[in-house]
Amino acid sequence: MMGREAAKILLSGKDGVVSLNLFYTGKQVLGPTSLLTTNGDEHRRLRWLIAQPLSADALRKHFAFIDGLAVQILGSRASRGRVLVLDEASQFMLKVIANMIVSLEPERPEQEEFRVNFKAISSSFTSLPLKLPGTTFHRGLSGRNRMYAMLDTVIACRMAGEVREDFLQTLLMKYTRGQQAGAASDPAEEEKLADAQLKDNILTLLVVGHDTTMEHMAIRAAHDGDDTQHLWWSDLSSMPYTTKVMNETLRRATIMPWYSRKASQDFSIDGFQVAKGASVNLDVVSIHHDAAVFADPERFDPDRFDGSLKPYSFQGFGSGPRMCPGMSLAKLEICVFAHHLVCTYDWKALEDDASVQPMLVRMPNNMYPILATALP
Ligand code: HEM
Repeated sequence: MMGREAAKILLSGKDGVVSLNLFYTGKQVLGPTSLLTTNGDEHRRLRWLIAQPLSADALRKHFAFIDGLAVQILGSRASRGRVLVLDEASQFMLKVIANMIVSLEPERPEQEEFRVNFKAISSSFTSLPLKLPGTTFHRGLSGRNRMYAMLDTVIACRMAGEVREDFLQTLLMKYTRGQQAGAASDPAEEEKLADAQLKDNILTLLVVGHDTTMEHMAIRAAHDGDDTQHLWWSDLSSMPYTTKVMNETLRRATIMPWYSRKASQDFSIDGFQVAKGASVNLDVVSIHHDAAVFADPERFDPDRFDGSLKPYSFQGFGSGPRMCPGMSLAKLEICVFAHHLVCTYDWKALEDDASVQPMLVRMPNNMYPILATALP
């Protein structure tokens, strides 16, 4: 389906006409109680629990870590030569998300294990549902099992009294069902997360929060100021050009080219009948290239975000009940990474190859190589 009217019907979620449509393999690797595999009231409840620790306010306490890590990763070699931006961005993203969620320190050996498991899980999202050893799906499920085992160990330490300032701690303290006598019959406890829900959703955030943002960072960077040192939280609100570049990159490159839904009832869009049970994909690329909204749509022009846009014309982070809950974190990471990249190096792209890997989240095939020279 194409167009803003279709976006409104499919994304607004009004009257429960559609639900999220995930591949069978994606559902299996993320788990039956992941935010991405639930619908209706259960989905709303999970979102409420997850949105709070991802809010802009809650992110403030992670800012110094994120900024320091970007400086360290980008400045680790004085003069860089050939750099694969996607590799650098991937390292950065993974370390941020693992630290925010389970306090994994950037230099710990488990980082590599995390990376391998993520890769296996995210590659299996749209694979053939063959559970035979050696298949992509089998590797994804094994990655999920290993991640579960790692989470079990971390959760056991927290239960034994270890306290950290991270997302897991917030969920465990405030939103996870108690183990004490009588907890099971307490209605307030029912609203909280069961053990499997906690792990499925931590895993979901680790995987989703890593893939999408890392891809976006490979595409463009902006220059808002001259400060080559650390950023401050307050600087973020004075980086309007970076925000526009971010939006224009999401529009022009549209890293998630379609949003998929399943019809929960019969309905029509623009006179076209959709039967209950049908899969419906919203073509986001065409919405982002609608010349009636974005004049000369192939041109990269951040200033087109100066004014207000027509409703449902820009879907970089989606809309409605499924809108990306990690948007503030993604924007923060992109701003910080882009700022330090352009302030540390003079760089130019080494290849013109714009081909992308055929995955759910579109990745440049060549990992976006640049020639980077450290600025004096
Ligand atoms: C540039 C980076 C990112 C982009 C472009 C992006 C984009 C999106 C979009 C378009 C959706 C909605 C898809 C649909 O309606 O079918 C979505 C959902 C989601 N995103 Fe993001 N995202 C990014 C980063 C993140 C991060 C950093 C996190 C978490 C830490 C995250 C967590 C999620 C989750 C959990 C959902 C599912 C929400 C639900 O089903 O209720 N995303 N994202």
